[in-house]
Amino acid sequence: MRKKAILITGAAGEIGHALIEALSKNGKTPLLTLDLEPLPEDIRDLTTHWEADILDQKLLDRLVSEYEFDAIYHLAALLSTRGEFSPSAAHQVNVNGTMGLLRLAAEQSEWRQKSVQFIFPSSIAVYGLPDLETKTQYARTREWEWNYPRTMYGANKLYCELLGIYFSEYYRQLAAEQPVMVDFRAIRFPGLISAFTVPSGGTSDYGPEMLHAAAKGEPYACFVRPDVRIPFMAMPDAVKALLDLAAAPAEAISQRVYNVTSFSLSAEEFKGWVLKSFPDAEVTHEPDLKRQTIVDSWAADMDDSAARRDWGWEPDYDVQRAFEEYLVPNITKRYQ
Ligand code: SER
Repeated sequence: MRKKAILITGAAGEIGHALIEALSKNGKTPLLTLDLEPLPEDIRDLTTHWEADILDQKLLDRLVSEYEFDAIYHLAALLSTRGEFSPSAAHQVNVNGTMGLLRLAAEQSEWRQKSVQFIFPSSIAVYGLPDLETKTQYARTREWEWNYPRTMYGANKLYCELLGIYFSEYYRQLAAEQPVMVDFRAIRFPGLISAFTVPSGGTSDYGPEMLHAAAKGEPYACFVRPDVRIPFMAMPDAVKALLDLAAAPAEAISQRVYNVTSFSLSAEEFKGWVLKSFPDAEVTHEPDLKRQTIVDSWAADMDDSAARRDWGWEPDYDVQRAFEEYLVPNITKRYQ
């Protein structure tokens, strides 16, 4: 008998940390987590963890023989800045890794005659607006607009969305009998901010880095201009979005890829919120022109009306609640 489980890849990353806590509180199904790294101590008891590489085919074979997955949360990825330093490695992990897991999900869906749900965090990085004028004009970008990513990571995410749609809608379309398909659902996240972890290798990292540096009493040189604007979201809302989308009935889902967002801030406004709580924070701007160009190509805000309409998406944290009730109190405690 295969053991029932929910699989989480990239479990030691930022979203993984918060998602493991939430899933272990909510559900009865045991969690199996994968990452190259060990899990932080505070969540180790909540899951069975394998330190393993999602690119290892033998590992995937072993997973199929030992487990039956109701759902796969595929979080493992190399983010947008890191991906530019090693594009082939990013492609390997972000695309080949996703392909391997989609095939595993397809095989299991067929075998158990019931869809495996495949929940995929995509990103604002799939957007590539050509210039600042267009960025201002298309302030709230809709899912199908400006899908011209400029980073390896963004291109990988966009392609994996298409792969997920393929495995859910068209896989083995010429076969005499259609197999039971994967139930792929993706969320395009804005920049995420956690009170408990600091991201690494992303290009929206200036937000969380600024805040965590202020809480530690360290100076911070922000790598984008003060006027650079993108949307952000507090981590509890990111987890809520993943869980709400996973819980939505199939009839409610009219598309397989949804934008979600909470609040849009310029780097200057971000700094304003940081200074409100940490008035002595030393924040300067030393734009890294290359990383800044990447952020300039991302949408200033995202239109998440489809998610609101279809599965009742609404963030719990607007900017004020995010800073005053979640980020600042928890970060302050953390560095005390
Ligand atoms: N936070 C990610 C990055 O900066 C975007 O999804 O790469």
